[in-house]
Amino acid sequence: MMTTSAILAIDQGTTNSKAVLVDLSGNIIARAHMPVPCYYPQPGWVEQSGEEIVRSVMGAIDKCLASQPDVVVAAIGISSQRESAIAWDSDTGKPLAPCASWQCRRSQPFCDELKRLGLNARVQELSGLPIDPLFSGSKFRWLLDSLETGQSRGNVRLGNIDSWLLWNLTGGVAHLTDTSNASRTQLCDISTGQWSPELLDIFGIPHDMLPTIRPSSYAFGTTSQFGSLKAGIPILSMIGDSHAALFAQGGFRPGIVKATYGTGSSVMTATENRLIRAEGLATTVAWETAEGRTYALEGNITVSAAVLPWVAKLLGLDGSVERLAELAESAGTEGSEVLVPAMVGLGAPRWVGDVRGLLDGLTFNTAREDVARAAFESITFQIKDVVDVVRAAFERHGLTPLSALKADGGASANGWLMQLQADTLRVPVQRAKQAELSALGAALLAGKALGTWPTPEALASVASDFDTFEYVAATELEARHANWLSSVERTLSHLK
Ligand code: G3P
Repeated sequence: MMTTSAILAIDQGTTNSKAVLVDLSGNIIARAHMPVPCYYPQPGWVEQSGEEIVRSVMGAIDKCLASQPDVVVAAIGISSQRESAIAWDSDTGKPLAPCASWQCRRSQPFCDELKRLGLNARVQELSGLPIDPLFSGSKFRWLLDSLETGQSRGNVRLGNIDSWLLWNLTGGVAHLTDTSNASRTQLCDISTGQWSPELLDIFGIPHDMLPTIRPSSYAFGTTSQFGSLKAGIPILSMIGDSHAALFAQGGFRPGIVKATYGTGSSVMTATENRLIRAEGLATTVAWETAEGRTYALEGNITVSAAVLPWVAKLLGLDGSVERLAELAESAGTEGSEVLVPAMVGLGAPRWVGDVRGLLDGLTFNTAREDVARAAFESITFQIKDVVDVVRAAFERHGLTPLSALKADGGASANGWLMQLQADTLRVPVQRAKQAELSALGAALLAGKALGTWPTPEALASVASDFDTFEYVAATELEARHANWLSSVERTLSHLK
């Protein structure tokens, strides 16, 4: 019987666990997924079950491996949702409480208290992140405060989903994380890539409960029997999902910014080995390999493609984004309509939570087409505003200028939107052909540790292929963007 070697990539996301087999030429040869539920026990709280997460991963792996009985798994890579926090007992291996999702706001009061004590600037300087319940540090604190009094503190292990999966895959042997996941906890000193004693003190987290931080491409341990997965398979990468997608998009090359067009948008760029800061963006670790640590800037836009079905419903189009796109494409560019989608505040680069959306510039000539176009432009202009901050930071620090925007995520399927983005930014937009980017990124990093793709050239040859949208000069977009900026100002002035 002919057997093929492949890397098994696990991509554990908020709503789905995926298992993907990548052959040693970088081709995806099988994929399977299992859904994972979220629970909303109180307003603002979002939880997941640690056990359900593990079962969904096992289910996805079993399905994926069953579809390729002749494949031998040479190594495993893990990409996972970031920031979600879980506590478990090292003796029983059982979670001590439900996992507090990255979306969960339960630690807002603790964060407010830290800010009241004037700690924001120091925390941001050390961690690269502004104090916010999104990050794991305050969630770990909440989990520790909620422990039963009888719980032996010596048995408590804290981690993100990567560490929880590693613990389960290795049968409770390894308690490790990688620098990219650690950099999202708000407890890691990004200049050293290790837990910061000062941050641990501020958040009240004992060092020995936390995983040891290792590079993203590293021998994290070997599997014990896990469903149909055999024992003894090396786990050679762990990385946050957005970081993995940037890697698979070839973001290890300078001058690349990645934008994911989902409900919101994550705009991320690696800043080579330079730790740089930019107003309104998070400084974080992109990944770490044997060659060293690569830093990144990230801007998260709260409402991006989610605006499209909402406007399509408002305009009586049965929520059809396709029909909305047809309307938008037929609109002229002389209208003054602007939609600022601040339904839940504005994310990067402005970060104002308590403003609400605005439909601006209406006249008696305003037609549905103009509002449809304004909805699409609200995505491209928000991304431009983050990219402009990135471009200014590149220039300030003498980094390679932006040469292309790499696009992925559901709404990037719309070619007109991609063209509009290219024309707005005046750089080519390269849309990934591959859908499983986070899994591919984890596989590439595992393959790097395995020695399959040791050099950037070898990695680039297996990074995701793409379709290119070249930009055309569209001067009217400059005036429309200026109009957008005025409307954003008007939105913010409602706050005052
Ligand atoms: O920061 C949270 C992010 O990593 C979640 O990713 O793919 O589960 O939405 P996803």
